[in-house]
Amino acid sequence: METEFTMKPKLLILSSILFFVLLSAFIMDENPYFKITNKDIVFVNPKGFPKPFYDLSKNKPSVEGFTLGRKLFYDPILSADYFTSCATCHQQFAAFAHIDHPLSHGIGGRLGIRNVPSLQNLIWKDAFMADGAINHLDLQPLAPITSVSEMGENLPNVIKKLQANSTYKRMFYKAFQDSTITTEMLMKSLSQFLSLMISCNSRYDKFIAGVDTFTSIEEKGLNLFKSNCVTCHPPPLFTDNNYYNIGLKPDSNLNDNGRMTITSFKEDYFKFKTPSLRNVEMTYPYMHDGRYRNLKEVMNHYAASQSCSNKKFDDSEKTELIAFLKTLTDMDYLHDRRFADPNTY
Ligand code: HEC
Ligand code: HEC
Repeated sequence: METEFTMKPKLLILSSILFFVLLSAFIMDENPYFKITNKDIVFVNPKGFPKPFYDLSKNKPSVEGFTLGRKLFYDPILSADYFTSCATCHQQFAAFAHIDHPLSHGIGGRLGIRNVPSLQNLIWKDAFMADGAINHLDLQPLAPITSVSEMGENLPNVIKKLQANSTYKRMFYKAFQDSTITTEMLMKSLSQFLSLMISCNSRYDKFIAGVDTFTSIEEKGLNLFKSNCVTCHPPPLFTDNNYYNIGLKPDSNLNDNGRMTITSFKEDYFKFKTPSLRNVEMTYPYMHDGRYRNLKEVMNHYAASQSCSNKKFDDSEKTELIAFLKTLTDMDYLHDRRFADPNTY
């Protein structure tokens, strides 16, 4: 018969073994913080949204692929200095834009020529970047990884680093049933993560669905928006995926020709892609070069510009427009744990 005295050390040993097994399972687990499950990767086309440009049937998100894409997005291993990850520039609380400086900062503090845009509803974009330089989501991450002013890496080296990492080898195998990592697998896993970044539950969406109300200021702003802005910023995406010169003064230091860089057509000089206005409250500073610090400055531009709107907004109209723009903030998106840093426990 066991006495109390002999049982206790046994229990202690057993429970400490259990503890270490659980702890190591947690550390070894590639999907630890906010574990992604099947229900997290279901794509539902939001009501009223058009058909996406991105063909999800060719790269259907899986739990393993999405989890891998999330890890890569937050991992500085993709950069030359092991210091800069996608998320260094694309921060969730700012709808994956970067809020404190106008131009993007990459490895070694190198300055880019453009402001970091928000990332959302990417599968409905026919082209990426302010000049539309990239026309497929699967190709987009190549640009920052290889740009000298962003992550400063080259692909063979990135693949070599990932291949040498046993966790990544395992994760790539789980996602693609192959432990020889290729560029295509890298791009596809990032796309699986990026493609599900969907913002469609702002107060505006709830208002349209009839489950929320607007204040009278917001409603006045909506009406001003409808008569002055929707041609280029039409709902539900708040962009027409087109390019315009909205009358900003070119910055001679940056020497950015906009869309003309891509097409070489003179008439495309200083045209930029219409950005979505979803979550715009959170994505300051504004415009391709981040020249405006806040929405008031943007409204001052539109009030003075002849190229976009013939209307001279007065101060109360500017306030109304801004109040409306703030209804496009989607708290669910900004706090969606599926897109948060997996290294934060
Ligand atoms: C050094 C900062 C920086 C890093 C690091 C970075 N980006 Fe970006 N990203 C930018 C900037 C700046 C732009 C806009 C460039 C332009 O318009 O020419 C951009 C644009 C994008 C776009 C296109 C958005 C649109 O609507 O056109 C996507 C998608 C994107 N980045 C994803 C990523 C991914 C994935 C990574 C990691 C592999 C990454 N970025 C790393 C700064 C960065
Ligand atoms: C002729 C098309 C057009 C019209 C009309 C227009 N916009 Fe824009 N808007 C653009 C383009 C293009 C940009 C980006 C310019 C750039 O990056 O340099 C932009 C940028 C913005 C931005 C900055 C977004 C960001 O993330 O940097 C805001 C805010 C904005 N517009 C609001 C409005 C409002 C409010 C109206 C109506 C008063 C309006 N726009 C009318 C085309 C238009």
